[in-house]
Amino acid sequence: MKGNCAVILAAGEGTRMKSKKPKVLAEVLYTPMIDWVIDSAKACALEEKDICVVTGHGKELLCAHLPQGIATVEQTQRLGTGHAVLQAKEFIQKHGSGNVLVLNGDAPLMDEETVSCALEYHTRCNAAVTVISAAVEDPTGYGRIVRDARGDFAAIVEERDATDEQRAICEVNSGAYWFDCQALLVALDRLQSNAACRRNSAGECYLTDAVSILRSMRQKVMTFTAQSADVVRGANDRIQLAALNEIARMRIINHHRKNGVSIPFADGIVIAPGVQIGRDAEILRGTTLKGSTVIAEDALIGPDTTLDSCTVGEGAVLLSVYGENATIGAGTRMGPFTHLRPGTVVGKDVRVGNFVEIKNSNIGDEAKVSHLSYIGDTDMGPQVNVGCGCATANFTGKEKFRTTIGEHAFIGCDTTLVAPVTVGDRAYTASGSVITEDVPDDALALGRARQVIKRDWVKIKKPYRE
Ligand code: UD1
Ligand code: MG
Repeated sequence: MKGNCAVILAAGEGTRMKSKKPKVLAEVLYTPMIDWVIDSAKACALEEKDICVVTGHGKELLCAHLPQGIATVEQTQRLGTGHAVLQAKEFIQKHGSGNVLVLNGDAPLMDEETVSCALEYHTRCNAAVTVISAAVEDPTGYGRIVRDARGDFAAIVEERDATDEQRAICEVNSGAYWFDCQALLVALDRLQSNAACRRNSAGECYLTDAVSILRSMRQKVMTFTAQSADVVRGANDRIQLAALNEIARMRIINHHRKNGVSIPFADGIVIAPGVQIGRDAEILRGTTLKGSTVIAEDALIGPDTTLDSCTVGEGAVLLSVYGENATIGAGTRMGPFTHLRPGTVVGKDVRVGNFVEIKNSNIGDEAKVSHLSYIGDTDMGPQVNVGCGCATANFTGKEKFRTTIGEHAFIGCDTTLVAPVTVGDRAYTASGSVITEDVPDDALALGRARQVIKRDWVKIKKPYRE
């Protein structure tokens, strides 16, 4: 693998996306298309420093998104795929002693398996270039793979240059190739000086012409046909982008199913790449799992749960939960309608009920926050019981303060805890209290007006219309 590198073509504008962003930043399963492509390159043992992205349209946004280590070159004018690779000539000279992988930045389904099997084939054949092709149902718009009488590769003919007979060919160029480094550099030099570069009907400098040049030099040109036709799919507009999303969505759902995750219906379930789910976990409809979310075995997630970069323990049950950067312990039950905001760590066997919002807090094991409460910037011990409708007043309008609740404390319904404040271990607050001072261990705190009874007040006052 030594000395291999990759060039990713990403200068195109993607006019039909009608977006402010460059096309390759359009997302498939919450992941920009370019990230999928970079991951496929990395799967061939390439490091970030061995990858060069050709940028153009929306260069600033794209460069800001790319990981630090990745090289970029700018193509100031979109003069074709061959011209785009030419911009990376110096990078290839510096990095490549082995093979160069060329990928289209807008084809996110070109998967690691296809790319690495193609490399293996390319190396075994000792080829100058291996074109990754696919057999598609509808070849419209793609370059056709034309073969000679023996079935060997003869040429790639673009749609606009093709005869009717060639247009009927269903084997197409994916736009991904493995080139021998030296062979590519020679072909690029010829491409640059070649009138052919500007002679084609599009007036563009085609990378496919580099393949023709190598063939005319009697160098070995091979094709590697991908298992799935989806690898060639790109997205020129948001309808095609939705189609990519749907293919990727089902691929990932089925991948988890094969690994023993129970997903009885795929309705509205979106699982981003990178999410990990343990065996016998069950995912129910309307659930979105994204970011670095990890779900342990036997957890039950959904329906209607969204988790972004959350960690969920074994056997936890999350019904209609919206969680962001939160940790949920094993056996904990939540929802319906629970909101976990960043920095929340909920212990084991906790119960968090409906309309509870928790932010930047630690909730001890076996605690209960069952209904209609806001817990913010709080450290709560184990086995605490928070009654209905409690709130931590954590913000003065200027500063935020923490609340501490000791183990086994009992917070009565409708208690307001005005931070900074501490409720001791096993202490109680009376319902309706506003707690502004620390409560010692084992104490009861009452922070409310004493009740007054005015006998026969209604009869005397008659506070109603006769
Ligand atoms: C290309 C191939 C075609 C193949 C198809 C697969 C050529 C001539 N044709 O056609 O055989 O079937 O891909 O999708 O190569 N780009 C640049 N700079 C440019 C032009 C393009 O960076 O000047 C980038 C685009 O952003 C895109 C990629 O190269 O990511 C492919 O370009 P595109 O214009 O889509 O090529 P196709 O016409 O699809
Ligand atoms: Mg294209």
